[in-house]
Amino acid sequence: MKVVSLVGARPQFVKEALVGEAVRRFDAWHHILVHSGQHYDGNMSDIFFQELGIPRPDYHLGIGSGSHAHMTAAALTGMEEILLEEKPDALLVYGDTNTTLAGALAATKLHVPVIHVEAGIRMRPRTMPEEINRVLTDRISSVMCCCSELGRHNLAAEGLSNGVYVTGDVMYDLFLRMRPRFTPDETCTAMSLCPGEFALATLHRDYNVDTPASLRGMLEGLAAVQEISGLAVLLPLHPRTRKRVREFGLTPLLTALRTCDPIGYLEAMSLTCAARFVITDSGGLQKEAYYAGKRCAVMMPDTGWRELTDSGWSTLCNPDRESIVQAVSRIMTPVACPNGIYGNGKASENIISAVLQMPCSLT
Ligand code: UD1
Repeated sequence: MKVVSLVGARPQFVKEALVGEAVRRFDAWHHILVHSGQHYDGNMSDIFFQELGIPRPDYHLGIGSGSHAHMTAAALTGMEEILLEEKPDALLVYGDTNTTLAGALAATKLHVPVIHVEAGIRMRPRTMPEEINRVLTDRISSVMCCCSELGRHNLAAEGLSNGVYVTGDVMYDLFLRMRPRFTPDETCTAMSLCPGEFALATLHRDYNVDTPASLRGMLEGLAAVQEISGLAVLLPLHPRTRKRVREFGLTPLLTALRTCDPIGYLEAMSLTCAARFVITDSGGLQKEAYYAGKRCAVMMPDTGWRELTDSGWSTLCNPDRESIVQAVSRIMTPVACPNGIYGNGKASENIISAVLQMPCSLT
């Protein structure tokens, strides 16, 4: 069986690291890796391949940044050519980016079954680009691998039950696998931070950073957290965020915070393990904070990881000063850590079993 994996953005490299490896371990399967090029800077892409031991992609589409239509169209036509050339038995796609939807669409039109890893996540508003990508990708996938029962439930509500499996979260597998390589103390020393005496913050969502009022509100919120808690706030700056800060004339608001360039997986997880808590609008980091035993304030109107907010472990907030300060005070209040929501570290093996169990036998 020939399987093509398609990646393009940071969260997908993290997931491919283990699923791709599990596919390659299967002697009878031939694995081909495609990088769409949605993320392309060294610290947004190459560093993940190096740190996580992901092989060099067999194809690179170089789609770069642009409008949603531009990115999706470029990945769609690029993937069509590759699928026609390679004639695989299945395409593996991850998460909810434009790359994910483009790959799934190209494959379905060519009758190549799609395996969607991290299926069944739903959140509002339904008009969010990632939500559109999720819903459409699930609709045309043959195998849907969910991180938890919530994903199965969400898909059932849309009438999707064939080919749905609860496999667990591959990001948890990776966290467990890489944990011996996390170096919280050394990373803190290198960045002049004291373990436990800082908060790790990230922000990059288009709806948060592309609007001057939200971006200002979040930066003011982070500065207020620093002032009230007495903890340092470390903010690695995503390229989109850095660009908007400059464009909106908000650079002076960064001076109160500790900022740095985007960081790779090992540094990010080392800092997560060392932080007192996390403030983020990243879907992946919310879960990774939980894996590291850290509470998290989520600067989003909704989250796909509702188990974490329903239990009070994480909390949602708006992109403004007051809301962020209140969220941080909620996550300073002790609650029991919910256990075992996203599997037992065997998600990548479960994904392979799910593919093998397909009634139409993809093998
Ligand atoms: C995508 C995903 C989003 C995910 C995010 C992770 C979609 C619809 N959204 O957003 O769910 O959370 O990736 O980061 O696919 N840039 C660089 N260098 C890079 C990459 C980006 O400078 O290597 C700049 C671009 O010029 C652009 C911005 O950052 O200004 C876009 O980055 P990002 O928000 O990450 O990418 P999206 O593709 O919009």
